[in-house]
Amino acid sequence: APLEAHNTLRVRARSAWLAELADIGALPHLLDLPALRGLPLLALGTGSNVLFTADWPGLIVQLRNSGIEPMGEASGNVILRVGAGESWDALVRWTLAHELVGLENLILIPGTVGAAPIQNIGAYGVEVARSILSVEAWDRAHECFIELPAADCAFGYRDSCFRRAPARWIITAVRFKLARSGALHLDYADIREELARMRIEQPRAVHVAEAVLRLRTRKLPDPALIGNAGSFFKNPQVDAACAATLRAREPGLPQWPQVDGSVKLSAAWMIEAIGYKGLREGDAGISERHALVLVNHGLASGAQLWALAVRVRDAVRTRFGVLLEAEPRVLP
Ligand code: FAD
Ligand code: EPU
Repeated sequence: APLEAHNTLRVRARSAWLAELADIGALPHLLDLPALRGLPLLALGTGSNVLFTADWPGLIVQLRNSGIEPMGEASGNVILRVGAGESWDALVRWTLAHELVGLENLILIPGTVGAAPIQNIGAYGVEVARSILSVEAWDRAHECFIELPAADCAFGYRDSCFRRAPARWIITAVRFKLARSGALHLDYADIREELARMRIEQPRAVHVAEAVLRLRTRKLPDPALIGNAGSFFKNPQVDAACAATLRAREPGLPQWPQVDGSVKLSAAWMIEAIGYKGLREGDAGISERHALVLVNHGLASGAQLWALAVRVRDAVRTRFGVLLEAEPRVLP
């Protein structure tokens, strides 16, 4: 099956098999079909965080189970159970319409609810992990459905147990815990400035969402207009000593101290500093709007996009001594 419409980098890869599944109960039977058993398996949402560098040799499964199911309240929080196939942005808007607090900073992130825990999606000072109660999945190691409490998911910055063992689990639903009222996250100066521009003095969750919406629309290229997968690299984390050395050598490089003592560095700044913002190699490029975004100007293959990413990674390592790690899953 052609995958061009199933990845936001618009790479023209193909997969041997592609299955859409709305009935999660049928998943074990699908995986057990004689023609499919033993093939490499990939769960795919909307493909907004993958780079196909070649064709996928096995089966791709897209879960189409949508739906937001209120499950009552627990310790002052509203519990929602949401199907993996539901749109992430639709869920955020649903929570805003129901005056629930917690997901407002994560509005407009592309993709499905099932993919959200994989890299613990985050933006503007909030990560989804803080609102997750548990994750339901098909466990391929034990061939059974399981429910993992959030504490067992090893959530970190753009990280989780699911990201580390990508072949093991297919996430089927996510349970969220959201407050009816609660503190908003306004630690990002960008948000506070945007709210001031909107002349909002007593912000509510909808106002924060509107501020994030404006910021994102201004800063990030729209995949509907130009193929991209958001940030192509994670912001690297280094120890305090390394950060101090870099601070002396590269005073302009934004550094964000973390609670564990490590320091996060701005990958976008480093890529811009080496002069690669807006760079183009054939149809593979670096966005001229945001240095951390790899773009497909038209017919770039996954291999060409990856070659450019490797060039960026090597140039950043040479200049800064810091190794960038790809954020999207690089396939196969
Ligand atoms: P896919 O790209 O289809 O899959 C991503 C990974 O998850 C793959 O490894 C896939 O195998 C796995 N996967 C997907 N569904 C399942 C499942 N049900 N079970 C098991 N594994 C699964 N991310 C952020 O964190 N913050 C941002 O601010 C942000 N901004 C973005 C902006 C743009 C313009 C774009 C294009 C992307 C952005 N992203 C951001 C990345 C992306 O939106 C998220 O990673 C999102 O969660 C991916 O969802 P998806 O359904 O497209 O997943
Ligand atoms: N910057 C540059 N040049 C650029 C763009 C940015 O130098 O072209 C510098 C600026 O100094 C800016 C700083 O980088 O202040 C940070 O930029 P931005 O606020 O755009 O955030 P980011 O670090 O590039 C991260 C996430 C995004 C998330 C935003 C907002 C990662 C890898 N990326 O980007 O997530 O939306 O913060 O919180 O952590 C994604 O994961 O796909 C993604 C888009």
